Amino acid sequence: MTKVVFSGMRPTGKLHLGHWVGALENWIELQKSHQCIFSVVDWHALMGEYEQSKGIAQNGIEMAMDWMACGIDPEKSILFTQSDVPEHLELHMIFSCLTPLGWLERNPTYKEQLREITTRDLQTYAFLGYPVLQAADILLYKAQAVPIGEDQLPHLELCREIGRRFNFIYKKEVFKDCEAILTKTPRLLGLDGRKMSKSYQNAINLSDTEEEIKTKVSRMFTDPKRIKKSDPGHPDECNVFSYYSTFAGSQTNDVRYWCTQAQKGCTECKQILAQNVSEALKPVREKRRALESDRHKVIEILHEGAKKARAIAQKTIAEVREVVF
Ligand code: TRP
Ligand code: SF4
Repeated sequence: MTKVVFSGMRPTGKLHLGHWVGALENWIELQKSHQCIFSVVDWHALMGEYEQSKGIAQNGIEMAMDWMACGIDPEKSILFTQSDVPEHLELHMIFSCLTPLGWLERNPTYKEQLREITTRDLQTYAFLGYPVLQAADILLYKAQAVPIGEDQLPHLELCREIGRRFNFIYKKEVFKDCEAILTKTPRLLGLDGRKMSKSYQNAINLSDTEEEIKTKVSRMFTDPKRIKKSDPGHPDECNVFSYYSTFAGSQTNDVRYWCTQAQKGCTECKQILAQNVSEALKPVREKRRALESDRHKVIEILHEGAKKARAIAQKTIAEVREVVF
């Protein structure tokens, strides 16, 4: 039996290079050999953005377009919007009943987000239960593997614990443990060397034009010790150079040589990088444009995906109700 893979992404805005080179690359590889289910998790977005909820639906469609433009194939994988499959909420409710409050209050990701996100009030009932809904997402499809970033590991551990507790209370092995498929540490940092993130405004978006890419790359931080062109640089300490491993290939050694020998300057180095990034994004941009001109098709794909997802979800819910009630 092919393994079921489930993952979700919150529709909070435009996707950037970090999403592509991190998560999506992984998803695209997995869909070759697994039954993949990818969800636009709009309820999870609402937990954070309940005051600006109007953008969520639109962002969801945009995100699905970005996924497909990068190579997520609706012929192979199931793509759907979480709120189109109401069974997520049903399982969330059942899990809420049996999840001890202490498990949620102790969750390090939760504590960190409360500390770090100060622009929105996250002291809500739903936000505390964020990982309970995430567990419902995964277990509704009995997914065995979940591609996620490291920050999500505590959530996955809770998912396993919730599944085990369900099985224990209702004396039936309905859910099995799921494993994480970790995205390697982010290969691409933001323009300023911090983690690439929309909220830091240091991201190159998948939808950026060639001009925008050029401007953004020209603003990237370089080796701080290389001030003049005649100073030899240290490519291994330069964020621009780290991009070459993804966006250059054969030029990498040449760049290392010029830089350490102080032969060419950072401006030229960045111009080449900007060109390479633009080149790599070209097929994505073209596919994106084609999808944009056929929005209805994208909406249709998500609806079809929801039907398929729902068929699986209903089976699980029937089994769950059977043992609970
Ligand atoms: N919490 C995840 C994130 O912020 C998104 C998510 C929701 C998810 N449900 C999921 C990821 C289920 C994997 C599986 O990135
Ligand atoms: Fe970095 Fe390139 Fe400048 Fe060297 S030449 S410091 S690799 S930007």
